[in-house]
Amino acid sequence: MTRLLINIDHVATLRNARQGAHPDPTLAARECELAGADGIVFHLREDRRHITDRDVEQLKQGVQGKLDFELSMAPGIISICERIQPHLATLVPERREEITTECGLNVLSQEDDTRRAVDRLHAADISQVAIFMDPNPEQIVAARRVGADAVELHTGEFANARTPDAMHAQLKRLAEAASIARAEGLVVHAGHGLDYDNYPLFREHVPHVSEVSIGFAVIARSLFTGLRAAVADMRRLVQPIRE
Ligand code: PXP
Repeated sequence: MTRLLINIDHVATLRNARQGAHPDPTLAARECELAGADGIVFHLREDRRHITDRDVEQLKQGVQGKLDFELSMAPGIISICERIQPHLATLVPERREEITTECGLNVLSQEDDTRRAVDRLHAADISQVAIFMDPNPEQIVAARRVGADAVELHTGEFANARTPDAMHAQLKRLAEAASIARAEGLVVHAGHGLDYDNYPLFREHVPHVSEVSIGFAVIARSLFTGLRAAVADMRRLVQPIRE
């Protein structure tokens, strides 16, 4: 069965629009867990555009399930992650001007830096370190070489594909990448752009995925349904209930 982790960054984006205290990302995280999420994801960006240092402290205290700290390799951010000791640290590339994470981390072009970051996180007793990456076999093998425990496969190109052929081409890439990762001994996570419409197709075609990280689709739906219902709807898709 695949675990469902909900990314609550967009709750912080809304809160910050009025520079106040509501809606509170930690309260949102609790609602997600009550609705059946296995854990919570947040990304502490270098520019703090959504999640803040205070949120990180509160999420560490408030989240009962698995806590996934997404981070760049900036030394100051790694230091915060070392102190927080989440269950999972996911390394992502970060560009200040981007609207959201645009691509996977290029491990091949910065193997030494990535190995140092993975080593630092392991040394801080963070038991699972993942790298967010495009479904590219060479990158996956490099993730293993630098000591990662897991890869989070970037599903954005699949989510953005506009024709059935393009979608299936991306599903094939993701399925091959998942099999290679598994053969390399890596745990397979996935995320970015997964939603209520595309997830069933993803689930049908991509094997070995132990965890998905989903944010935008759930938070956007929650405006109409409430957060618990939005998470519960996704929960039913991610872990189908046999009638
Ligand atoms: N995984 C990573 C590494 C991400 O950067 C994001 C976006 O914050 C997600 C998963 C979730 O993507 P979405 O919000 O599109 O569901």
